[in-house]
Amino acid sequence: MRILLIGNGAREHIIAEKLAQDSEVYVIMSKKNPAIAAIAKEHWICNIENPQEVSEIVKNQIIGKIKIDIGFASPDGVLAAGVSDVLENAGIPIASPKKAAARIEWDKSFMRLLLEKHKIAGQIKHKIVNNEADARAAIIALDGSVAIKPLGLTGGKGVKVSGDHFTHIDEGMIYVHELLDKDGVLLIEEKVEGEEFSLQAFSDGHNVVAMPPVQDHKRAFSYDRGNNTGGMGSYSTGPLLPFLEKSDIDQATRILQAVVSAMHRDGVPFKGILYGQFMATKNGIRVIEFNARFADPESINVLALLDGSLSAIFKQIAEGSLKKCNFLVDSTVVKYLVPEGYPDNPKPNEEVKVNLELLKKLDAKIYYASVYEKNGKLLTTGSRAFAILGQGTTIDMAEAIAEKGCKCVSGPLRHRADIGTNDLIQKRVDHMKKLRER
Ligand code: AMP
Ligand code: GLY
Repeated sequence: MRILLIGNGAREHIIAEKLAQDSEVYVIMSKKNPAIAAIAKEHWICNIENPQEVSEIVKNQIIGKIKIDIGFASPDGVLAAGVSDVLENAGIPIASPKKAAARIEWDKSFMRLLLEKHKIAGQIKHKIVNNEADARAAIIALDGSVAIKPLGLTGGKGVKVSGDHFTHIDEGMIYVHELLDKDGVLLIEEKVEGEEFSLQAFSDGHNVVAMPPVQDHKRAFSYDRGNNTGGMGSYSTGPLLPFLEKSDIDQATRILQAVVSAMHRDGVPFKGILYGQFMATKNGIRVIEFNARFADPESINVLALLDGSLSAIFKQIAEGSLKKCNFLVDSTVVKYLVPEGYPDNPKPNEEVKVNLELLKKLDAKIYYASVYEKNGKLLTTGSRAFAILGQGTTIDMAEAIAEKGCKCVSGPLRHRADIGTNDLIQKRVDHMKKLRER
């Protein structure tokens, strides 16, 4: 098959790599990712969040010249801009959600209303407010234990949680003001206590097929210190995470299925990847948010384990004939290498060198996120530079490979050495055990 992929990060690097196992991959990127360009049969550069620009490339350079079998728009901003719609309007079958369905991610009020309307499990107390008085009343009604968030996309960095980011209601109100000034509306949610996990699923508009659960690490520094980032790394341990029970995964999968069924009933069928960010609590699974795409970096954990053809799955999604998928039961650890100073004060344009030979010897894999080539050199931007993947029959093996893999890249980069270690995982297990005993 010939597959058109839109996107240029580490997530799209592994998607391209998997697709290229049995298909020709064509890619439209905002910036040239050298590793994706090396996989692609052909690539084009434009602002991929601008549907008009994507449409021009599709019309002028693709239609009538290359027969594309499937289109897949990958990042959140691209889906929110309606790029899947552009591809479909050009006659390309799509395996990613259209703008109306991706709304589950780009409009948190749509998501909360959907759960409410269809009485889907996992809902939490929340209030959508558009003025100061209602916001204050909502925070007081939840005893000050809240998460304050914008309704739209924030790259994982727009949420402020009491206890973590602010303590007194007046501090919370400063953020409320900021959001009211910017958007005129915001969401106040009860603060949920538990352990977070990501469950991604393929969906063809009717059925869902879940992938293995993964735990991401959003904080910049070891032991969850520092600001939130786009994600510093993630691990998986087969069909379950160490702090979860099978019933947790079953419950989360049922929630994903219920969402897909509800969206079908409402006339906005969801085709693509539905990624639930869930919290396991003492009272069961709660929904933090849904995303209309593969998670980053958790996509790397699960796609490394996918035992079969991603191209075939995309075709089934496009045709509405999704079947079961198989995943290896190995453990995986992904660690992001980020510029020093990231996320607050990253140092861009620094030269980095990758020792591919040594990575291969270690059995570690590297996925290029945000780096560019200039005069034969590889340089950083202000964003995450590379994701390093370790895979093994045990989490210890996977972690050791990922950690050694990080040492194969030289330059002013850092990573979180604690991700995937027994010490940190045990803390999650102990936390969950304490909550369940309460
Ligand atoms: P989001 O951008 O919605 O993924 O949120 C970023 C992070 O904020 C999440 O990964 C959670 O750790 C935290 N968070 C978001 N909503 C809540 C909530 N209602 N209760 C507790 N923590 C939350
Ligand atoms: N893993 C965080 C995200 O993809 O939004």
